[in-house]
Amino acid sequence: MSNTESHEMESTVAALMAVGKGILAADESFPTIEKRFKALNISSTEENRGTYREMLFTTPGLSDFISGVILFDETIRQRRSHGVPIAIPEALARQAIIPGIKVDLGTMALPAFAGEKFTQGVDGLREKLAAYRELGARFTKWRAVIAIGESLPTTTCIEANARALALFAALSQEAGLVPIVEPEVLMDGGHTLARCEEVTSATLKTVFAALFDHRVVLEAILLKTGMVLPGKDCPQQDDVRQVAEATLRCLRRAVPAAVPGIVFLSGGQSDVAATERLNAICQRSGLPWRLSFSFGRALQDAALKTWKGSPANVAEAQAALLHRAKCNSLAVQGKYSEHAEQESPARSKTHP
Ligand code: 13P
Repeated sequence: MSNTESHEMESTVAALMAVGKGILAADESFPTIEKRFKALNISSTEENRGTYREMLFTTPGLSDFISGVILFDETIRQRRSHGVPIAIPEALARQAIIPGIKVDLGTMALPAFAGEKFTQGVDGLREKLAAYRELGARFTKWRAVIAIGESLPTTTCIEANARALALFAALSQEAGLVPIVEPEVLMDGGHTLARCEEVTSATLKTVFAALFDHRVVLEAILLKTGMVLPGKDCPQQDDVRQVAEATLRCLRRAVPAAVPGIVFLSGGQSDVAATERLNAICQRSGLPWRLSFSFGRALQDAALKTWKGSPANVAEAQAALLHRAKCNSLAVQGKYSEHAEQESPARSKTHP
């Protein structure tokens, strides 16, 4: 990579991690967006997906709290349908929101390892990255999935996914694109907080060893990880303070200080719970990396449920998105409160 490219990547990282800003993940694959739409009786057509995402991205004031958006392949090629039709990445860039792109092709069952997944998409990736750059992307994302079970995850699964993540990251940097390296440890199951910490720690250590092996420049990546949480079905649901402590202990032990930023995924937590925990994590000081959010569901759920596919609900849905973005912006500064949550008329509808 040239000096110009490495400077550009550093400034992309700095802009993505600007104080009080986070990333909106809007890169749901076809099956995932179909599932979310189906629950609200919205049919998952190209037009509806485009209209929905355009509604999100044109939210007035969004760039006060959102520094970047992760797009899906279909969306990065779409144009805004209202006003002068311009490409979505260009529309985002004009609002000072950096366009990014999910480049993995989803998971497949890992052969001979029941219950485990391997993320696909390395074939032809070099050419795809060059094309995404032309389309305006400045960062990329690849998600690996690690499940916790009685005898899961296996070292084989973690290592295979870590290799793919590292190859993705090296190829992204070669193209001058900042890779968001996302090994997600799933919340599904009855495991404890301690077990999640153990698995997250093992996963991160393996991922960083692979990044190191593949000569990835750690200063020009972002890590996207889950918070350390008890499984959804665990009878003991630890409080925000315990979650914050476990998360930070785990990250301190496994993530090199050279990494400039860590962004959290929401992973199926309710939107308010994700914000409360983010706030508790970000209240701790003396950390070597910047922390922020890169939520999908925890930013979008209330907006999608308010929109319901109807143009009449656009303003209210945008207000719901802006509210969650603002609450999470406060949380990354450790300033979120119940008062801030109550402030908006478009209060979240997904609090359990
Ligand atoms: P969630 O916040 O809904 O987990 O999505 C984030 C993401 O980008 C998963 O890859």
